[in-house]
Amino acid sequence: MDKVEIFEVGPRDGLQNEAREIPVAEKIALVDCLSRAGFSRIEVASFVSPKWVPQMASSSEVLARIARAPGVSYAALTPNMKGFEAAMEAGADEVAIFASASEGFSKANLNATIAESLARFAPVAEAARTRGVKVRGYVSCVVECPYDGPVPPEETARVVAALRDMGVYEVSLGDTIGQGTPDAVDTMLASVLDEMPAERLAGHYHDTSGRALENVEVSLARGLRVFDAAIGGLGGCPYAPGAKGNVATRKVADFVEGLGYATGLDRAVLDAAAEVARAMRG
Ligand code: HMG
Ligand code: MG
Repeated sequence: MDKVEIFEVGPRDGLQNEAREIPVAEKIALVDCLSRAGFSRIEVASFVSPKWVPQMASSSEVLARIARAPGVSYAALTPNMKGFEAAMEAGADEVAIFASASEGFSKANLNATIAESLARFAPVAEAARTRGVKVRGYVSCVVECPYDGPVPPEETARVVAALRDMGVYEVSLGDTIGQGTPDAVDTMLASVLDEMPAERLAGHYHDTSGRALENVEVSLARGLRVFDAAIGGLGGCPYAPGAKGNVATRKVADFVEGLGYATGLDRAVLDAAAEVARAMRG
């Protein structure tokens, strides 16, 4: 049976947008539950400025206190060298650098142009290579930007190529505000696939308009087999007005399994984790 991997991003992408200051113990309880579900990768931390995203300020503590399951890679976002050093100190297994395909979102999210952000990521990718740490890349606003509107596919492909040239092992394509239509996602993928093979791409679809599963479907047809999702549909992005939740993990698992793919995830554990996640919402 063909496999689809779901990369769980709830503890990071999901929680970063919650207004209530969530106690560390609750975050750890969520991650510990997710660690039993069968994921290979869980994004649990983000070493960004606490002034920008206060909710993620406890990332070191989360990484220190979770019960690590063997074979699970615990991932963290690192926007610059300061974040990378902190992630290494805290024991993150892999890191992610995150760029935008649109200038408007790059400025709002990173206080930098796309070119400036890429210049900040280069030393992170280099330091990670030296230390043997895997680096994932994200591109946000791959089809729609809340500030600039529709994003030309070749702009997304250009940023994917820049991250590829830095040595990222995979690029996750973010429909950050969940406004992408399946047609737009398909056209974007056609462009991106000129730069990076489907085996090294992931779909990261927010479900704001309820079209995430359709976007998963067109991505499957293009050969993608990794999708980011958040337990209980937690999520959003503080710098993307209108970005509601990431597509819910259970929803993606049910959908792809219905199409005949195996996810290796334990339903009962997913449901228990979704309960924990829902109880955390402010
Ligand atoms: P800046 O204000 O331009 O940075 O922010 P700066 O270098 O001028 O530093 C300002 C202050 O931040 C300084 O502290 C630095 O030390 C501190 P001060 O001297 O004022 O006390 N600082 C840091 N502190 C902790 N960790 C760090 C760090 N770096 C600087 N790593 C910066 C630039 C990139 C830091 C800021 O814009 C930032 O943190 N942005 C992150 C925003 C964010 O986390 N957004 C959500 C994640 S992206 C997302 O959700 C999309 C995704 O899911 C995919 C999708 O859906 O599309 C991935
Ligand atoms: Mg996201």
